[in-house]
Amino acid sequence: DGKTANAYTEQEAWEEQQIRKSRLQFGSMDRGRRGDEYELLLDDGVEFVRSTVMAGTVPADDDDAAAAAAAGDEYQAEAMDTKATLQDERKTLPVYKLKDDLLKAIAEHQVLIVVGETGSGKTTQIPQYLHEAGYTAEGRKKVACTQPRRVAAMSVAARVAEEMGVKLGDEVGYSIRFEDCTSEKTVIKYMTDGMLLREFLGEPDLGSYSVVVVDEAHERTLATDILFGLVKDIARLRPDMKLLISSATLNADKFSDFFDAAPIFRIPGRRFEVGIHYTVAPEADYIDAAVVTVLQLHVTEPPGGGDILLFLTGQEEIETVEEILRQRLRVLGGMVAELVICPIYANLPAELQAKIFEPAPPGARKVVLATNIAETSLTIDGIKYVVDPGFCKVKSYNPRTGMESLLVAPVSRASAEQRAGRSGRTGPGKCFRLYTEYNFVSDLDDDAVPEIQRSNLASVVLALKALGINDLVGFDFMDPPPAESLLKALEELFALGALNSRGELTKTGRRMAEFPLDPMLSKAIVASERYGCSEEVITIAAMLSAGNAVFYRPRDKRVHTDAARRGFHAGNASDHVALLNVYNAWAESGYSPQWCRESFVQHRTMRRARDVRDQLGALLERVEIAPCSSADLDAVRKAVTAGYFRHAARLQRDGSYRAVKSRQTVFVHPSSGVAQAPPRWALYHELVLTTKEYMRQVTELKPEWLVEIAPHYYERKDVDEPEPKKMAVAAA
Ligand code: CDP
Ligand code: MG
Repeated sequence: DGKTANAYTEQEAWEEQQIRKSRLQFGSMDRGRRGDEYELLLDDGVEFVRSTVMAGTVPADDDDAAAAAAAGDEYQAEAMDTKATLQDERKTLPVYKLKDDLLKAIAEHQVLIVVGETGSGKTTQIPQYLHEAGYTAEGRKKVACTQPRRVAAMSVAARVAEEMGVKLGDEVGYSIRFEDCTSEKTVIKYMTDGMLLREFLGEPDLGSYSVVVVDEAHERTLATDILFGLVKDIARLRPDMKLLISSATLNADKFSDFFDAAPIFRIPGRRFEVGIHYTVAPEADYIDAAVVTVLQLHVTEPPGGGDILLFLTGQEEIETVEEILRQRLRVLGGMVAELVICPIYANLPAELQAKIFEPAPPGARKVVLATNIAETSLTIDGIKYVVDPGFCKVKSYNPRTGMESLLVAPVSRASAEQRAGRSGRTGPGKCFRLYTEYNFVSDLDDDAVPEIQRSNLASVVLALKALGINDLVGFDFMDPPPAESLLKALEELFALGALNSRGELTKTGRRMAEFPLDPMLSKAIVASERYGCSEEVITIAAMLSAGNAVFYRPRDKRVHTDAARRGFHAGNASDHVALLNVYNAWAESGYSPQWCRESFVQHRTMRRARDVRDQLGALLERVEIAPCSSADLDAVRKAVTAGYFRHAARLQRDGSYRAVKSRQTVFVHPSSGVAQAPPRWALYHELVLTTKEYMRQVTELKPEWLVEIAPHYYERKDVDEPEPKKMAVAAA
């Protein structure tokens, strides 16, 4: 019925508003002066003050500087006119002039730290140079180049394949979780850092690689940090292997120190002057301020004079901004030049990703709406204006509760500098920070904390144990994780039965390590053997891994979509079972796109789930679990419980839940199918923190299962204890 559908929408809107409010980090709100001519579209303008010019802005190459200065604002139009071939373009990159020196340095040193401004050609060119210089010739050895982000791995591989004139997946390929686009022919392999970590499991000496490039090292992702320790170790074992650590930050000494004083190869930057503009006063709503600033720039800056890059925190925000921009542009109609909107985030389909690199048509301007990915991993040519609200999503982990969450937080000063630098790559640029200079100087941290110090480590500890690395405290970390996090990871793996009481890998643990999933989900799969329902559990695992966008809800059809959604829950208080039902119904339809449309299910997500499921099926075979299917949904729930028993929660009188062990108060996410009739006991897949801690993907369970399935974790009293009396938090 329409009523509940609306309640859900309102709830969502309210939530969103609360998040916005909570982001009001920087004092009170003060709107800028009203700009008369754009009143219609801008309501209130955002007022900026120009501040310091970035240090170190003298271009390293005088010829380029002169050319750029002469060209002035026309530089981009000129670049577009020039019908440069890809090969010519390659030669204009800063790294090109140093090609011979670089190859010489690589020949002379086993380990080399390569440092260069973003966009200088490190990622796309160096692997090609190595290929041309013969590093891939003998014995068909490969060059690996790791990337912290999936999208970067894919898009860079596509670019390099194009430059080499080969089909993607032949000589040049990429490998990301659940997607291997390589073949027998592949000699240059871009991959996520997490995938290289997994390759150690199959090939502990990385024997098929002649060179390993750990790229974007400055990002210090969890997987990259673990790789540092592992590749340092195998470099000692394999004198024939070359190791390059490549980074965009100038502070490379830390990398050099870690890799036994490895020499640093610097690629001189080619960065033009960037004018920094700060808001006069803090902005209350950065989304609104960002939209207004983009439009202000589009209207007031000369047309065809350069594109805009706006940094946002995630897909939802990007979609919101895209929609608002489209609406406002529609109102303006022919009054302003065309503005081409290009979103880029991790889940964007590959065919749309390519679009961000296409130049805007003559006379039009492009605005790229990007996450952190455009900070250093991806370089988009033609950007002249950067709009930086100063926020990003960061993972945070509380080892005490074991809770990991994604939070929107202010960026570091180093990030803000990187973002600004993106506007001065091919000519002088401007950066508009939606916060004050005072905020920049006094409120931002210097650097981001490495991910290893704010993550749940269960997954990497399991991988390291599977590699035979037992002494984790003695592991060669660049920055060690907190002892508490390591301990918590060991405890978690012990509770899951992956480690024995001496901390050694068990047979269950060995099987779990084969799956590129969170250990809890891997455990559910391994446990499905016992409950005779491996087919069902890998379907659920695939659906959970394929992304959150299973259903879509067009605004005008909410009543229908919500009814269709409830259909998949029929009689089961379980989002997991609903996911299973969706997949099975789709499979029965012959994997039909038509069925997806009629059921308001995203076909793209389903196709991905099918891919993931196929791969999980192959892994099941590898760990020798026979495919088995059960119609007993309790069996399926028990298998899920075997992985997620730590996520058990009990309903309170006021409608909230309390986590059984951590005693934390949590809530059913309004998008959950069990939100209308919350069960007394439930488990959840994950927590998302918005205004409250919400449980996403919730399934009813029986409390006695907890004691039966995880007797070392739960005692009778945990589940028998009478529900605590609690005052109703009445909204009366
Ligand atoms: O790694 P680094 O930041 O040093 O530079 P890069 O990623 O190798 O980028 C070098 C050049 O390739 C830039 O001019 C990019 O615009 C271009 N590129 C591209 O056009 N399309 C891609 N998918 C990746 C890079
Ligand atoms: Mg790069």
